[in-house]
Amino acid sequence: MHTRTTGAIAVFGATGQQGGAVVDALLDHEARVRALVRNPHSDRARALAARGVELATVRADDPASLTAALATVGGFCFMTPEANSLEEVEEEVRIGTALVDAAVEAGVPHVVFNSVFGADRESGVPHHDSKQSIEQHLRQSGLRASVVRATAFMENFASVLAPSLEHGEIVLRMPLPEDVALKMISVRDIGRVTAALLLGIAEATGGVVELVGDELTGPRIAAAFGARAGLPARYEALPLSVLPNDLDKAMFREFAEAGKHPSDLTPVRSIEPATMDLAEWIRATGWTAPTNAAGS
Ligand SMILES: NC(=O)c1ccc[n+]([C@@H]2O[C@H](COP(=O)([O-])OP(=O)(O)OC[C@H]3O[C@@H](n4cnc5c(N)ncnc54)[C@H](OP(=O)(O)O)[C@@H]3O)[C@@H](O)[C@H]2O)c1
Repeated sequence: MHTRTTGAIAVFGATGQQGGAVVDALLDHEARVRALVRNPHSDRARALAARGVELATVRADDPASLTAALATVGGFCFMTPEANSLEEVEEEVRIGTALVDAAVEAGVPHVVFNSVFGADRESGVPHHDSKQSIEQHLRQSGLRASVVRATAFMENFASVLAPSLEHGEIVLRMPLPEDVALKMISVRDIGRVTAALLLGIAEATGGVVELVGDELTGPRIAAAFGARAGLPARYEALPLSVLPNDLDKAMFREFAEAGKHPSDLTPVRSIEPATMDLAEWIRATGWTAPTNAAGS
């Protein structure tokens, strides 16, 4: 497939969800990929190597290892690890900043940062404001940079937000009012858009792509799962107090605010026309109703 970049594309976080999807998409384009990993012996790192991905061992607190790993690459994308406490938020900023600095040092021709929706404003969400700081550092670095801002991953509906089956009914619960739409994107499409930017197949207008594949209220999300299962479905809005920490509470408060403003769903589709809406994601992942049903 045609690409406009020479040199390997470096990916930080390649053993995780977003980075893994970027690797998948890059390999689909037959690009050379270099994964920056902290443990080249982990099962996930070895699985990447088995698919022809080069491994470069790095330590986020060792700038020389990062710069060496980025030498001669044609492009670089990075995400920053999940933060569940203010200490981890500080660590997130340290890692993002170190990666940008290493890209400057190595003279990387194009960098893509996998940020988060809303990072262009003060949200009061610590692990979103951290990404705003990293975006700012990237802008000030002088690097040619693009930013993709992901909304909630649809994959959350296969884990932390998985609907349940109760008395023959699909039940979805989220700490989000029932009249507010949740903005979402599949991890596969984050990978495809990021790869298209890295390979020069697409350009981000204004340097930013907001990754919104769908936006649906809780009742409509529940209905989409119910339709797939052929079962009735209902949504239950939970209070924020069910969340385990203040970071998540702030995040769902921000989701409720952001959901009041409809998004333009076309920019992401102009880069990846096959971007999935939730119903397509449900079909593509082969989701089936859970079998560990309560009372059914
Ligand atoms: N979940 C959502 O709905 C959502 C939506 C928008 C944005 N986000 C943001 O997405 C980010 C998480 O992305 P993800 O789900 O793709 O992450 P993930 O699946 O948890 O993967 C984390 C990756 O980072 C690597 N990593 C972590 N700490 C590292 C370190 N100190 N040095 C080197 N590598 C390190 C991990 O490597 P190992 O394999 O070695 O552990 C792994 O490759 C968070 O910043 C979150 O705020 C999430």
